[in-house]
Amino acid sequence: MEIIHVSAECYPVAKAGGLGDVVGALPKYQNELGHIAKVVMPMYKTKFLLDNIWDVVHKGRTNIGDYWFDYTVIKEQTNKLGFDLYLVDINGLLDREKIYGYDDDTERFTAFQVAVVDWIAVWVHHPDVIHVHDHHTGLIPFIIKHCYKYQHLHQVPTVLTIHNAQYQGIMGWDKSHLLPPWDSWKWGMLDWKNNINPLASGIKCAWKVTTVSMSYLDELRQSANGLEALFEYERGKCTGILNGIDTDVWDPEKDTYLQEHFSVDTVTAGKAKNKRRLCETFDLDINKPLIVFIGRLVGEKGADMLPAAISDSYYYIGREMNFLILGSGFPEVEAQLAALQKLAQKDYNVYIGYNESLSHLMYAGADYLLMPSRVEPCGLNQMYAMRYGTIPMVRRTGGLKDTVIDYGEKGGYGIVYNWASVGDITHSIWRAVDLFEDKAKMSEVREKMMRLDFSWQHSVQQYLKLYEALLPQKKEAPEAEGEPDKKIV
Ligand code: ADP
Ligand code: GLC
Repeated sequence: MEIIHVSAECYPVAKAGGLGDVVGALPKYQNELGHIAKVVMPMYKTKFLLDNIWDVVHKGRTNIGDYWFDYTVIKEQTNKLGFDLYLVDINGLLDREKIYGYDDDTERFTAFQVAVVDWIAVWVHHPDVIHVHDHHTGLIPFIIKHCYKYQHLHQVPTVLTIHNAQYQGIMGWDKSHLLPPWDSWKWGMLDWKNNINPLASGIKCAWKVTTVSMSYLDELRQSANGLEALFEYERGKCTGILNGIDTDVWDPEKDTYLQEHFSVDTVTAGKAKNKRRLCETFDLDINKPLIVFIGRLVGEKGADMLPAAISDSYYYIGREMNFLILGSGFPEVEAQLAALQKLAQKDYNVYIGYNESLSHLMYAGADYLLMPSRVEPCGLNQMYAMRYGTIPMVRRTGGLKDTVIDYGEKGGYGIVYNWASVGDITHSIWRAVDLFEDKAKMSEVREKMMRLDFSWQHSVQQYLKLYEALLPQKKEAPEAEGEPDKKIV
């Protein structure tokens, strides 16, 4: 099968969060099973771009509304990521340093999607599946189905994976001219509550929709940032498939970001060395449990509750633990976390920003990873943590619920609480301090977690089954238009 993944992120090219990790791993494991999985993403100005050698595979010209642009598709020469990687270069729109956060993101990602379809439209064959990820690529199923110019592609099956339904890419109807001319009878396929909603459109038009955990799919019917009724209506085409982790990258025995490696047999000594490194760098007390948070400092992650939970823990439990926070996000949360540093007694520190290397050291050296998420579609952090022998302290929601069982329950290994509240977080911190005292139990829990299998193996099979179910519905594809691109076929 030939699968083309279209995404705004892909690790190690460009990553803002878990979407990048997933798109950087899933295609590799699909290829390992003998399929042809490719990734196409925007060409941002990244280090990866400069450090690698590229072939030009296609040059095209298309438009979003009145704005005509040339685009170039380049391909990484060596297949070093384990899949063919294509970048779409659109001068002035995509070649920027950040992935998101510009005023013209609507135009940028619409142009990207139009260019991707425009390119696929000239292949001499059709891919078996176009797999799009999140709202940045959510218009592709509509473009393929309802834009006249690309009608010959309309039998190509599309799959939309929703990594996060909080973000939907909503734009006003005044932007409808950005799309290639389309059948105006189909306006409802773009609309949600009087706006063009790319995520909603993807859910309506894709042949299948997946979410990144089973529990998240259930929750979306009750809470989906306004799309609840749509999830209920389309429930028949939605499936939850839990993410895996890339065990080649996230392996404490050979992690290239770590200086001190360890396995399940050497976990106590190995983690102690990494913890020492962290404690020396961040002026923390190595004898106290080290509780870390890694992630976006936003409401979804419950980051706004951290300052109060940390202060309450010091007040009610005592200064018996260290906290180390890595992240960036809401300025007020960043400021509150930074302010706590002034009161630190060798037991608190914060790094505001994004730091891949530090995150690996934190998974390796910490005793606990705190995830008080209000919403967590899957969550990869808790799975990385467990593979590195770090006990997750998670709120029972979405993918956290599907991957962590409280150590007090039969077969359990983590710390789980029900509410995203300062009280529940503080209580979980008290339990963490208590567990830390019991060294034998701590080792038992660590070993149990490290032996769990969170690899992609199982989930890759589920995706393949899902694609296969779409293939018989595919009718004989008509001849492609335009110049065939010999290099790609
Ligand atoms: P989300 O995609 O919602 O942010 P996930 O748990 O799926 O959450 O994935 C987050 C990914 O981003 C993990 O690989 C995590 O280690 C990484 N990450 C998040 N914030 C930072 C940061 N400030 N520095 C380094 N890595 C980070
Ligand atoms: C999103 C979600 C996160 C998930 C990731 C990868 O960013 O917030 O929970 O793990 O995508 O699917």
